[in-house]
Amino acid sequence: MTDHAAPRLEIMPVEGLPEFRPGDDLTGAIARQAPWLRSGDIVVVTSKVVSKVEGRLVTVPTDPEERDAARRALIDEESVRVIARMGRTLITENPLGIVQAASGVDASNVAGDAIALLPTDPDASAAALRAGLRERLGVEVAVVVTDTMGRAWRLGQTDFAIGSSGLRVLHSYAGAVDGQGNELAVTEVAVADEVAAAADLVKGKLGGTPVAVVRGLAVGDGTATARDLVRPVEEDLFRLGTAEAIAQGHREAVLLRRSVREFTDEPVDPELVRAAVAAALTAPAPHHTRPVRFGWLRNRGQRDKLLEAMRDAWRADLIGDGFTDEQIAKRLRRGDVLFEAPEVVVPFLVPEGAHNYPDQRRNACEHTMFTVAGGAAVQNLLVALAAEGLGSCWISSTIFAPEVVRTTLGLDSSWQPLGAVAIGHHAGPRHPREPRELDEGLIEW
Ligand SMILES: Cc1cc2nc3c(=O)[nH]c(=O)nc-3n(C[C@H](O)[C@H](O)[C@H](O)COP(=O)(O)O)c2cc1C
Repeated sequence: MTDHAAPRLEIMPVEGLPEFRPGDDLTGAIARQAPWLRSGDIVVVTSKVVSKVEGRLVTVPTDPEERDAARRALIDEESVRVIARMGRTLITENPLGIVQAASGVDASNVAGDAIALLPTDPDASAAALRAGLRERLGVEVAVVVTDTMGRAWRLGQTDFAIGSSGLRVLHSYAGAVDGQGNELAVTEVAVADEVAAAADLVKGKLGGTPVAVVRGLAVGDGTATARDLVRPVEEDLFRLGTAEAIAQGHREAVLLRRSVREFTDEPVDPELVRAAVAAALTAPAPHHTRPVRFGWLRNRGQRDKLLEAMRDAWRADLIGDGFTDEQIAKRLRRGDVLFEAPEVVVPFLVPEGAHNYPDQRRNACEHTMFTVAGGAAVQNLLVALAAEGLGSCWISSTIFAPEVVRTTLGLDSSWQPLGAVAIGHHAGPRHPREPRELDEGLIEW
């Protein structure tokens, strides 16, 4: 394993290059101004001049407002997706997969009526320049095309390689051992980016020197290109800006819930259940009441006793309905999910604070009002569990056996069970669902 560092480096500006225009011969100009190029040198070129000679300049109005609007439109066009937005700063992924501010659209170092876009294929531009220099000067150089970008968590910009040819862009130290005997398992040096940043130290930003030469660095076997430095956005830990990630989380919170009826053996962290219940209890309720209780059946013996008593009551109902033994067994199996779920929470409605009316009609309405509040709290719980990474299913059975539930758990007659919620981890990745088609679900009057 060799070190990527050179014992000594020279970084030399290529001076006297002209202002480039579309169609100009960049290779010829470099060959003229740097006849001293040697094989093994790395020619580092600012992408702006590549954009210029390749005609990636867009003519825009000189009026500052119109120019800005044109710039914004170009940023949109050059963007594959928006990663983050803060004020006027837009971080996008461009068609090259590069994540940077403003899709690389740049109004610096161009005439007042022009805006530069990045070269469409900077690796190809680098390869063409390399071949051209080989032809004109008989030298085997590597070429790096650079752009200036900001970095997350760091102030200031540095230059990065967006195109390259003939250079080993990454130097992996996997399996290497340092002087102290430590294995470098993950160290992989972005050599092409280091070359780009080093060359910027002689190129500068005021436009006079868009090309520099790095001499003394081993170029390695140069089949990789700058594209190999791009980590696909979807594999990146920070694939969205913070505000965007939070907004996406908000949008997906409800869509993440689905009925899960099979769980893995992984135990459920009790704190997650507590957090979900605490969130669920914020559900809206009439008259500023708090009419919902969540009974968590943490004692297995007690849970089994309740479920068995409910099963017996259900079986008696089904026998009364005239079902066959086979049909009864099939129906009872539907209750297995509550026996098998890692955790079970029974929601109750305790309509304390409900208004009492002199007539039955309004009392029934009042009860409906509290029942829907109970439903809101249970849905809150399911959504909160999903947000905590837990699967759940709302099972109706306790609604059909309220007396059995109250007797087994020793509860007051005012406690009205609202089903039971099976909770656990579900196998496989969880994806939010697509929202439903509105169809008849929304009537806009
Ligand atoms: C009040 C209520 C009672 C439910 N009871 C049961 C049940 O007893 N058994 C069951 O498997 N699912 C039950 N469900 C879940 C529904 O079957 C489920 O919500 C429906 O199939 C839609 O699937 P989704 O929740 O994945 O969107 C119940 C849902 C609600 C709202």
